[in-house]
Amino acid sequence: MTSARPSEKATWHYSTAAARWYALGRYYAMFPRDFLHDAISHLTEPNDHVLDPFCGRGNAPFVATVLGRRALAIDINPIAWLFAAAKQQPAKAPARLLARLREVGHARRPADRRSNSRFETMAWAPQVRAFLKAARRELDWETSIVDRTLMAFIALHMQDKRDTGLSNTLSPTIAHSPTYAIKWWTHHGLLAPPDVDPVRMLENKITRRYRYGVPDQAPSRVLLGDARTELPQRRSSDARLLITSPPYCGVTDYWNDHWIRLWLLGHDLRKDWSKTAKYTNQENYRELITAVLRHSRKHLRDDATILIRSDQRRRTAEMCSQAITEVWPDRTLMQLPSSASHAGTSNGHGRGGTKSKEIDFLIPGSGATQWARERNFQPAPVTTA
Ligand SMILES: C[S@@+](CC[C@H](N)C(=O)[O-])C[C@H]1O[C@@H](n2cnc3c(N)ncnc32)[C@H](O)[C@@H]1O
Repeated sequence: MTSARPSEKATWHYSTAAARWYALGRYYAMFPRDFLHDAISHLTEPNDHVLDPFCGRGNAPFVATVLGRRALAIDINPIAWLFAAAKQQPAKAPARLLARLREVGHARRPADRRSNSRFETMAWAPQVRAFLKAARRELDWETSIVDRTLMAFIALHMQDKRDTGLSNTLSPTIAHSPTYAIKWWTHHGLLAPPDVDPVRMLENKITRRYRYGVPDQAPSRVLLGDARTELPQRRSSDARLLITSPPYCGVTDYWNDHWIRLWLLGHDLRKDWSKTAKYTNQENYRELITAVLRHSRKHLRDDATILIRSDQRRRTAEMCSQAITEVWPDRTLMQLPSSASHAGTSNGHGRGGTKSKEIDFLIPGSGATQWARERNFQPAPVTTA
């Protein structure tokens, strides 16, 4: 790839709309921005298509479209999709969003203040609880851009530290069990939730996010659904780059770890073990990754680059490399274990304590060999199922 590349510093300077909107949404295993900027700007050209079939909160399609690439992205989790879709196509005019916010505030009913559990009582003050219930009832987040953007703001702030969000202290990423939360609040003397005015607080948050407007982005499609069924239904996008990070095998439960915010989107306010998405069975996990990659292949040019960030732990890394080799048996697989680690989310109500390391798998497409060499990718050892 030879054309002039947009500098990372200028694209993501803090006083750009792109930098403000990139950060919307807290989610698992989020791609770092510099990784995405580097890969997408070097491995694709403007107007090329980029594919992310496990897009999470949508960092890859966001960076791609800010850089003038088109994106096709999918996630099966409604919370991930809410953030990804909202920042891919936010409501353009903050005035409409603020008006809708006030409408939701007015739609509160006296019965909405009522608490149905100790968790609810300790998590949100009555006026916040009522607001969340009104939002849950009123907002058409699946089809309306304004409602979806507003819902993303509410989802972001309904589960946060007590001084920055709408709730008593909760981890902003993982939703712990109600029992754990109650014990934790009690132990830390946080017996009552903060009595904040949700409309005023969100007005401030929205105004700050819109300070530099909304970013200019190339067209994209961000779909809510299973990549195994969504991809075959779409016309091939002939993408030049597949960049994705599949769920990790047996590490996090993508459904139950989001049970609080999923309630906002219409589910019950409880963990639902029938919906557990932890991918503990290695064979099923490998089948999932293989199937998604197989369907992805039809959306890629023959000389596309495939870049997959995985967990370094053996059961995930091996299953991923086997799946990649099965789908692209004739192409060269390389790997680069990352020395960086990101904070885990499993402990406490802060940012979490455990750390995990990542590994990047790469099949270099046309123009990517030099890029791979410069970053020290090495041939991956052969693994067989
Ligand atoms: C490691 S996360 C991706 C995080 C993402 N890179 C980011 O920056 O936010 C993996 C995602 O795969 C999604 N996922 C799992 N199974 C899926 C499927 N069959 N189809 C689409 N998405 C799926 C999960 O919901 C989860 O959001």
